[in-house]
Amino acid sequence: MSVITVAGGGSGYTPGILLTALKFKKEFPISEVRLYDIDHERNADMGIIMNYLFEKNHEQIKLVVTEDPQVAFTGCDFVFSQIRVGGMKMREKDEKIPMKYGLVGQETCGVGGFSYGMRSMKGFLKLVGFIEKYAPDCWILNYTNPETIIAESVRRQFPKIKIVNACDMTIGIEELLEESFGYDRNNFICQYYGLNHFGWYREIYDVSRGKDILPEIIEKIKTQGFKLDGMDPSWAHTYGVMADMVREFFPQYLPNNYLQYYLYQDRAMEKEDPNYTRANEIMDGRLKKIKDTVAKIKENRDLETIDYESESHGQYIVQIAISILHNQNGRFMLIVPNKGAIPNLRQDAVVEVPCYVNARGIEPISLRYDIPDLHKGLMEAQVASEKLLVDAFFEHSYQKALEAFTLNQTVPNATVAKKALNDLIEANGDYWVELN
Ligand code: G6P
Ligand code: MN
Repeated sequence: MSVITVAGGGSGYTPGILLTALKFKKEFPISEVRLYDIDHERNADMGIIMNYLFEKNHEQIKLVVTEDPQVAFTGCDFVFSQIRVGGMKMREKDEKIPMKYGLVGQETCGVGGFSYGMRSMKGFLKLVGFIEKYAPDCWILNYTNPETIIAESVRRQFPKIKIVNACDMTIGIEELLEESFGYDRNNFICQYYGLNHFGWYREIYDVSRGKDILPEIIEKIKTQGFKLDGMDPSWAHTYGVMADMVREFFPQYLPNNYLQYYLYQDRAMEKEDPNYTRANEIMDGRLKKIKDTVAKIKENRDLETIDYESESHGQYIVQIAISILHNQNGRFMLIVPNKGAIPNLRQDAVVEVPCYVNARGIEPISLRYDIPDLHKGLMEAQVASEKLLVDAFFEHSYQKALEAFTLNQTVPNATVAKKALNDLIEANGDYWVELN
């Protein structure tokens, strides 16, 4: 029986992850769940929701809600991390401040992503320090963004820690292919490579058909587009731009939707309201829903309609845990040191490629072919700018941060890089390390 700690327990994703884990209780029996968060109120709220859901399902799982890292981590087997340093309030600044300078304003891409990266490294490395101290043998299954920057910083400070860095975006894309064109992603063997939120599918082999169906998928995207009915409008817009990228720029490879922020900034930002961004949507939606749910539970109202479904986000991370526990060699898209996986890309990059996961950990799959110059060039500029940001963090270097911002491919020149950097330094205050 496993003991699980959810770091960032107050997150709206917690019920989805835990409900998914319960669905797989045969392969993944759980004796204890600990919610750990530095935000007392949100953690307590989620404690109320999880307690309600466990009782409703007649689960015999011990639930601990704590802000104490020693209580949270001592003796735990898996940490599911989804912390968001600074919460939605700071996400809002990451999105809005760059827009003041005509730049892309986004949580993980562009200088907004760098702003978040500086905060996230500080908070996440502290978290990993606690885990190393109190549960050195546990596995950290990490969703904390921006993932390439986080992975790069963890590998520098904690080279031996047992961590799996995962992102659910490729699953989201594959589910979109299922919904739009009637495929079953369980039949897919995908060849995908890139950095996190910055990559391409080169092949999607369908085992039920015995062939690569990527050319057919690309043709369908070009002619029919994706099926976007009923989708959250922000995501529908994103996938609309993704379909355009396929039509206009990538005739052979299916790009990750996040590449829109680097290659189609005008289209990506056309719908953005500088006074009401994604963070506002989430504060008015997902976060309000948590408050409403807690209020109903406190009033003892019937909550048959509570709609915390287990989704791909939860399933992905739970399946990774099961693959480790049962040595299943499941194949997952993960964020790992390159070391030859993409042969013609610098070896010290952190990349996202298919990997096998088993009891020994992660075994990345080498592509064994060189990637095209377009992809390599885009990736290497991005790797260099992210590495400079991580250098800036560890060396407390303003100069390196300025270089990172200037090299970021969403930034046209050093003047605007400096203005945005200075503004973000001020807005982040102690969330960032001091830069000299
Ligand atoms: C995807 C990405 C995550 C990202 C999330 C944002 O799941 O893989 O890295 O944080 O989208 O979604 P949201 O609904 O919060 O804008
Ligand atoms: Mn992601």
